[in-house]
Amino acid sequence: MKLALSLCACATAASAAYQFNALAYNPKQLATGACPTVDTVRDDLAVLAKYTNEVRIYSVRDCNQGEPVLRAMEGTGWKVQLGLWINKNDTVYESDRDELLRLAGVFDFKKHVTAVIVGNEAVYRKEQTQDQVAAKVRDTRAALDRAGLGSIPVTTSETWPSYGPALIDAVDYVNMHAFPFWEGVSIDGAQAKAFEHIYDLQRAAGGKTVVVGETGWPDAGGDYDAAVPSLANEQRYMREFICRANLEKIRYTWFSAFDEAWKPVTNASSVESHWGILRGDKSPKFAAPMYDCKGFVPSSKPGGAAENDRAAVSDRASDSDEASSDSSHSRHSTDEDASSGGAGLLAAMAIVAAAVSLLL
Ligand SMILES: *[C@@H]1O[C@H](CO)[C@@H](O)[C@H](O)[C@H]1NC(C)=O
Ligand SMILES: *[C@@H]1O[C@H](CO)[C@@H](O)[C@H](O)[C@H]1NC(C)=O
Repeated sequence: MKLALSLCACATAASAAYQFNALAYNPKQLATGACPTVDTVRDDLAVLAKYTNEVRIYSVRDCNQGEPVLRAMEGTGWKVQLGLWINKNDTVYESDRDELLRLAGVFDFKKHVTAVIVGNEAVYRKEQTQDQVAAKVRDTRAALDRAGLGSIPVTTSETWPSYGPALIDAVDYVNMHAFPFWEGVSIDGAQAKAFEHIYDLQRAAGGKTVVVGETGWPDAGGDYDAAVPSLANEQRYMREFICRANLEKIRYTWFSAFDEAWKPVTNASSVESHWGILRGDKSPKFAAPMYDCKGFVPSSKPGGAAENDRAAVSDRASDSDEASSDSSHSRHSTDEDASSGGAGLLAAMAIVAAAVSLLL
């Protein structure tokens, strides 16, 4: 164990101010999906301020949402991770990057921007190769350097199997998504599964910090193999993941802030609008505190069984569909995970397991 008991107390104290390090946030208006205004963002942040002081958005140019988000944060202690969208069409990336640079001339990035996240699961969706995303990460960093903003970390965000050496090399820190739900894991095994992937990437990352860019559990929608959405399971995963992350000093962005009722519901993604800690009417799903780490004991670290798990899941991954998305709006991973039945993710696991063991 890395941590002495005395450190555990510190971790608890340090995280006591807010229940969440950061929350994934789609600024579009909850009922309709209409573009946000400064006032609608202010209203959202007023609700979220009970839980965190940092949000992650997925594009600055879609709906021109970067501007109202940064405007709403002016004069406050709010922080934001700014996303640039990447898909097959590089013009989309370039216009997001150019909007980022415009915003950098208007707003105080050093005060409010904790990271720039270049792409969201573009490798996982097979819209870009790791080398292509790595080049865009470097391109954005160079542009920020020229603007005098070289101190702001630049990374991407990918499901854990999509991080190979080229991508790890390009990022300032590894920003990884982990959804035991989309691996069809029962709630009993979810905590161990998420941390197994974190440890794998930590070993592969050559000393770079690994941060969890998205994780969560839905409270409603269809089961996914042994993964069952429910309020109790959402809260249990929240407690187990976050309490352990705090103990191990692993930063995370919880997915997500709000249920987004406007999102289309299909059979494959009936859980899609149910990942929030708050409902679509902004009421909390759980009484405060949303979780409590008193008495929490982490599950034991994974041992030799991990390789068998991987083999088992990659066997199931044969009928992977293309997980296409022309979305330049910030559709989150699970949309794509859902449209491919999660199979793309599972298929990639075997490849990365191999890549990781090469690195070891
Ligand atoms: C690429 O994106 C740009 C900007 O959104 C758009 O104008 C253009 O038509 C797109 N090109 C293709 C081939 O889809
Ligand atoms: C969902 O599945 C049912 C039964 O398989 C099918 O009849 C229905 O059309 C599907 N709905 C959607 C939105 O795909």
